[in-house]
Amino acid sequence: MAIEILSPREQDKLRRAARCAALTLAHVRERLRAGDSTGDIDRWVRAHTKSSGAKPSQLGYKGFPAAVCTSKNNVVCHGIPRDDELLRPGDIVNVDVTSELDGFHGDLSETLAIGPTSPEARHVVDVSKRCLEAAIAVVRDGARLGDIGAVIDELAAREGCSVVTEFGGHGIGRKMHMDPHVSHSGVAGTGIRMRAGMAFTIEPMINLGGADVRLLSDRWTVVTADGALSAQFEHTVLVTREGCEVLTRLS
Ligand code: MF3
Ligand code: CO
Ligand code: CO
Repeated sequence: MAIEILSPREQDKLRRAARCAALTLAHVRERLRAGDSTGDIDRWVRAHTKSSGAKPSQLGYKGFPAAVCTSKNNVVCHGIPRDDELLRPGDIVNVDVTSELDGFHGDLSETLAIGPTSPEARHVVDVSKRCLEAAIAVVRDGARLGDIGAVIDELAAREGCSVVTEFGGHGIGRKMHMDPHVSHSGVAGTGIRMRAGMAFTIEPMINLGGADVRLLSDRWTVVTADGALSAQFEHTVLVTREGCEVLTRLS
C-alpha cells in the first residue's frame, strides 16, 4: 500500500492529536506511585483523554479491552491493565497511550520506574530510550527505513541487550496503524525511502535477555520467553527535509 504524505493541514491535526496523547502520558507519569494498580492507570487515561475532548484509540481496537497498554517487568507489550496488578518499588512499567483527536491519532509510550530500581532494570530502560533517540536521529527525507533498524540493532548489541522483531513501529494518521511497518532491526541503506510529510512511530522493544517472546493465553499480553526484563519507548514522528519533528515530545 502507498504511504501517505500528509498535507500541512493534516500535519497540524496530527500534531494536535500527538500533543494530546503526550499530555495524557505526562499526567500518568506525574501521578503514578508505588501501591497504584495498572487498573488505576487505565482510569486516569480514560478520564484525562475524555477531558481533552479525545478518544482512547486502543479501547476496542481488535477487541483490546482497555484504554491503555500497561506492560510491567517481563511484559514486552500489550499488557492489559488490571485492578489486582499492583506496582511495587523496583517495578518498571511501560505505559502506551494512543489518542484520537479530530480524526487523527497520536501514539507514544514510556517505561516508568516505580521507586528505586535495580541496575539491570535501569540498564534496559536506559538502552531502550537511547535506541529510540538514536533512531529518531537518522530520520530525514531521503533516508531509508532500514537505517532505523540498523542503529537500534547496533546500539542494543553493544549494550548486551536484544531487539524484539515480532512487533514494530507503524505509519500513523487517520488510523492508529497504517503503512509502513517500521522494523526495529535492519540493514542501513535498505528499505523504503522516507519522504517529508510521512508520519510514523518508532517504538523499540528491548530485552535484557534473549529476543524471543511468548503470547499469554489472554491473546494480548506479550512476555519475554526467558522471563527477563523488557523496556520500550515510543514517539510519533513527522519526516521533514532536514530531519523530523517529534510530535509526541512536549515543549
Ligand atoms: N499503541 C500501541 C502501539 O504502539 C497499539 C497497541 S494495539 C492494542 O502500536 F490494541 F493493544 F491497543
Ligand atoms: Co503505542
Ligand atoms: Co505504536
